[in-house]
Formats: sequence, structure tokens, C-alpha cells
Amino acid sequence: MRERREELSELARGLARTPKTVSSRYFYDERGSELFEAITRLPEYYLTRAERGLLTRIAPALIEEVQPRALVELGAGSARKTRILLDAMTEGGRAAVYVPVDVSEDFLLETADRLREEYPALEVRPEVADMERGLRLALRPPTPCIHALLGSTIGNFTHEEAVRMIAGLTSGMRDGDVFLLGADLRPGPGKSLEALEAAYNDAVGVTAKFNRNLLRVLNARFGTDFDPSRFRHLATYDTGKTRIEMHLEALTAHAVALPGGPVISFQEGEKLRTEISCKYDRAAVRSLLGQAGLKMVRWWTDERERFALALGAMTSEGGSR
Ligand code: TRP
Repeated sequence: MRERREELSELARGLARTPKTVSSRYFYDERGSELFEAITRLPEYYLTRAERGLLTRIAPALIEEVQPRALVELGAGSARKTRILLDAMTEGGRAAVYVPVDVSEDFLLETADRLREEYPALEVRPEVADMERGLRLALRPPTPCIHALLGSTIGNFTHEEAVRMIAGLTSGMRDGDVFLLGADLRPGPGKSLEALEAAYNDAVGVTAKFNRNLLRVLNARFGTDFDPSRFRHLATYDTGKTRIEMHLEALTAHAVALPGGPVISFQEGEKLRTEISCKYDRAAVRSLLGQAGLKMVRWWTDERERFALALGAMTSEGGSR
């Protein structure tokens, strides 16, 4: 975990920028994690269901093809979708190693305990790591290994960050290992712009609560005095940047104090950007994987082309880096 002082100065830098930004890392305290779980069950948030359906459809063939002995899952969370892969991997009592990786230690250890009970043949080796800071596993998983980054988590990184993260991961991969990526798709024939935006603007306001909860996390962590009721949730798709941008918009002009730092003033209607969620197509994913030293060897989408899974394998250049 990085130093609080370092985090505070990063926060101050983000708030001094135009437009103001804040790291989405602060969404996920316990309440934030619960709210996110609730988001995944909302009728508007199609991503989780589309990905789960797709995983269920392709898991048998994927496992047959890769014959994995290990699954490393980045940003594992509650590992609900993971069970689809684990079921296929451990079928017939086959032994396997599962390495859930997450920033939130409590959540991670709880998940690990539950999985150990559910899968006696599985060796569960949780690792706490901040994906943004590169991933170095304490223990090498057996090979072939599936490295998975699901849930459209990749979309929450800028292109440069995403390339760096996947490249970092690739450096630990060996021949036969693969990278499984879950990516949300751009609007198209089976997916309207309205449906995409609705996924981040649900009717009952859970996403708004989730977004505003970040201010509570900042207050608790840094002693700031953000008043969440003075902000409204705003999420729109930027067609040029092909991403959802999530903001908190100040309802009135007001100031917020940073302890030991400057006073931050908000104009009426001024936005604080809290998250991006990039959307992809096949070419964009292929290029992203390519820049990180991987070759895209499989591409699957749901029937309506709302969500995709891509499989990357090492190229010979990737293997020698
Ligand atoms: N990776 C998910 C997504 O981009 C998770 C997420 C981040 C999210 N911020 C969110 C989901 C806000 C809903 C609302 O969709």
C-alpha cells in the first residue's frame, strides 16, 4: 500500500487539474464494494450477465484447448464468474492452482476461504497487489496458466496504462500460458448508445450512490470535508474517446478543504472526473494486446455483440522480453 502522504499529494494534484480528477481506487471501501456488487445485479448493468453467459459458453472449449493447471485472476473481487472456469478446470477432481489477486485484502481472504471449502482439489494462493503498480507474484504458478482480467476492468485504465499493465503481466508468462481479457464493446447494431449509458445511470440510483461514496472514502482517509449531497452523478459516453466518463458535478459553487493543503474551489456545474470505462472493438483489442507483446488468438462475443472475451498468447518476441 502506498504511503498516505504520497496519496494525499496525488489527490491534491488531481484536484488542481482542469478538469479535476481523482483516482478510482477510492471507490472500493467495504461499502463501495457492496454497492458495486449491487450494480452488477442491476437490470441496466448488462456487462456482468453478458460476460458470465459468454464464459459459460466458451469455458469447456477453452479449458480443453489450454489444459491449464493454474488460473491467476487479476481484480478477483468476489470471484463469482471465476467459478465457471474453476468448475471446468477441476472437473473430475483434477488438481489446480488458483491465484486471486486484488487490492482489497479483507475481501480477497474471505473469497479465498470460501473457495477452499467449495473446491477441495484446488490450491488457493491469494496475493494482494495493486494492478497499477505492476504485478510480481510471490510464487510462480504452474504452467500452462490462464491469466484472467475480467469484468471490463481493463476499460478503467487509459490506453498507456493498459498496455503497461498487460506487458508487465506478459513478462511473467511462459510458453503455453494465455491471457483472457473481458472487454465491453462500443455501441453497434445490437447495442444502443442509450443501453450503454443506462448501464452507468441506473434508474434507482445505485451507481450514483457508488459514485458519491468515493467522497466519503476521501473524507475518512484524508480528513477532507466533501459534502456528497452537493454533487450529482453524471456518466456519459464520449464517442470520440470511445469511453464512458463518470463525473461528480458540483450543484452549487463551494469550497472543500484539503488538510494541510490548499482549499479546492468548485464552480457551480464544475465536474470532478472519477472514472473512465473504455469501450472496444475487435481491432482495438487486437492492437492493445499486440502492443503488450501478445497475439490475439481467439475472439468471442455474446449474440448481441455487447461484450467480448479475447484470448492472447505469447508471440516469440513477447517470450524473449
Ligand atoms: N470495470 C467496470 C466498468 O467499467 C467497473 C466499474 C467501474 C463501474 N466504475 C463503475 C461499474 C461505475 C458501474 C459504475 O463497467
